[in-house]
Amino acid sequence: NPSLVPNNGVPSVIRKKLMGYVGFANLPNQVHRKSVRKGFQFTAMVVGESGLGKSTLINTLFNTTLYPPKEPLPPAAERPKTVAIESIGADIEENGVRLHLTVVDTPGFGDFVNNDDSWKPIVENIESRFDSYLEQENRVNRLKVVDNRVHACLYFIQPTGHSLKEIDIEFMRRLHTKVNLIPVIAKADTMTEEEVADFKERILSDIAHHNIHIFQAPTYDNEDEETIAEAEEIASKIPFAVVGSDKVVVTPDGREVRGRAYPWGVVEVDNEEHCDFVKLRQMLVRTYMEELREHTNDILYENWRTEKLVSMGVAQDSTVFKEINPAARMQEERVLHEAKLAKMEAEMKMVFQQKVQEKEAKLKQSEEELYARHKEMKDALEKQRADLEEKKKKIESGRPITPDKATTGRRKGFLRT
Ligand code: GTP
Repeated sequence: NPSLVPNNGVPSVIRKKLMGYVGFANLPNQVHRKSVRKGFQFTAMVVGESGLGKSTLINTLFNTTLYPPKEPLPPAAERPKTVAIESIGADIEENGVRLHLTVVDTPGFGDFVNNDDSWKPIVENIESRFDSYLEQENRVNRLKVVDNRVHACLYFIQPTGHSLKEIDIEFMRRLHTKVNLIPVIAKADTMTEEEVADFKERILSDIAHHNIHIFQAPTYDNEDEETIAEAEEIASKIPFAVVGSDKVVVTPDGREVRGRAYPWGVVEVDNEEHCDFVKLRQMLVRTYMEELREHTNDILYENWRTEKLVSMGVAQDSTVFKEINPAARMQEERVLHEAKLAKMEAEMKMVFQQKVQEKEAKLKQSEEELYARHKEMKDALEKQRADLEEKKKKIESGRPITPDKATTGRRKGFLRT
């Protein structure tokens, strides 16, 4: 029953029928509306032994050419091995809902005699994503936080039919506190229905025995019957027995399907009678995408963050206290602010005093200069007055004024004649 989500400046979104196309646009309405504007960021990781079909399943899961080659491989060609941790991102839009999907493919392990530390780069990758998130949270501008944390980790189990291997237990124990673990039985087409059922039981009991936490679908009391039934159905399939294929094959009755063709028939990826692929995709992208994101943020990341801050020692502890105690943080900020103001005031006072002193010194200097000039002029006038006084006295006493040369000559000449 398609309905429109109210338009708050956001494009209207048509919701699809629940049993229609399995897509993330069917996320619960509230979350849906909240996230439509921003779009979703979802990161899934695949982990498991080499050659179990991790890269193939990624392509199958998102039915998109996330992975090269885009051209189909020649029949004899093999998909190259994944040799380093690779992240592949894709922006997918469905009914106006944007999803930025990232898939992290990890190199398969188990190829070496000593596989002791093969979990290390994977755990480090998950933690470095937490680190980057924490760093963004601590920035002043938190508006553009990019969430690259791994929200789901598909752990591939080899279809041996026995119990879990040591290496699987080791890996899961290292990963389960940092990521939502979703165990899957790889290449389930290599086992019969009965073998798959037995294997699932054994895996679950091993997981319980080793206290490994795998992602549990949440149960809500006040849900409608249909939702509860869906949740139970999904939960009953864990660990999902999957078959991956990005090739289209033709069934004996002439249908074109994604699957694997054998001399005895075709295993269809999208057929729920054949494998749990549809249920796995339903869980990841439709039913529990938001729960996976929430659990990552509220539990896994929060625990990691607390542990990290505590491990950083006493100095950091006060930060933890302040972060969880807003009143203490505000008090501290007020004290800091006041100290800053006082410092600024003192600085301003100092600058003012300095300026006044400079001005005073300048005034004093020009006063001295004026005074000196005044004295100079006074002295000169005084001297001039003294000279004139002297001349006056001489004239008055009748003494001739000291004659100059010309006057003397003329007088001599006059006497001779
Ligand atoms: P690494 O890169 O070494 O980690 O391998 P991987 O786990 O990514 O495996 P990949 O997807 O490269 O597949 C390895 C081989 O298994 C290929 O030949 C695939 O065609 C085949 N394969 C993938 N999925 C399935 C499956 O579900 N069933 C069967 N029978 N074969 C599969």
